[in-house]
Amino acid sequence: MTETKRYTSVAIALHWIIAIMMVLLVFVGWRMGDMAEALRGGSTEFTLDDVRFVFDMHKTFGILVLVLSLIRLAWRFMNPVPPMPAGMKPWEVTVARITHIGFYVLMIGMPILGWITASSGQAPSFFFHNEALPIPDIAPNNRSLHEVTEFLHGRGG
Ligand code: HEM
Repeated sequence: MTETKRYTSVAIALHWIIAIMMVLLVFVGWRMGDMAEALRGGSTEFTLDDVRFVFDMHKTFGILVLVLSLIRLAWRFMNPVPPMPAGMKPWEVTVARITHIGFYVLMIGMPILGWITASSGQAPSFFFHNEALPIPDIAPNNRSLHEVTEFLHGRGG
């Protein structure tokens, strides 16, 4: 049996798409928080619709990250990954494994927390800011749940 030496091109493509999207989502997440605060403070720099547009795009691409991450995980189970480089010390292998698992927790946990935050809050959510495409709720409308997940989602970023 031949040993896998490289990650498959699907795994490599998903890796980079997800990585780039997550970095952009963090920056957009911070920016949209600032925009919402400015609007609440009476700024006329943005309209409510501008802010909702940015929130909706953040949610849309965040859910896409969730879907792609689940595909990436399924792909990993279906395709053997290359072994760690020979000569790595046992503790290095352990750190690498824990880091890998940590990234999967973030890739899947962050969008789920964000989705619960959006679902448990008051504002309506639409894919691509299109009112014909409502984002379904995955949690009840609940203030305490909203505050907890908002905090955790914010800390994750
Ligand atoms: C990997 C995916 C995601 C990343 C990296 C991410 C990152 C962030 C970051 C950095 C913030 C700003 C937090 C702060 O300033 O305190 C934020 C806010 C937010 N995100 Fe995400 N997010 C992701 C996915 C999602 C998804 C899928 C949804 C909803 C469907 C979502 C909904 C929200 C909401 C509603 C806020 C504003 C929370 C508030 O009111 O402070 N996010 N996100």
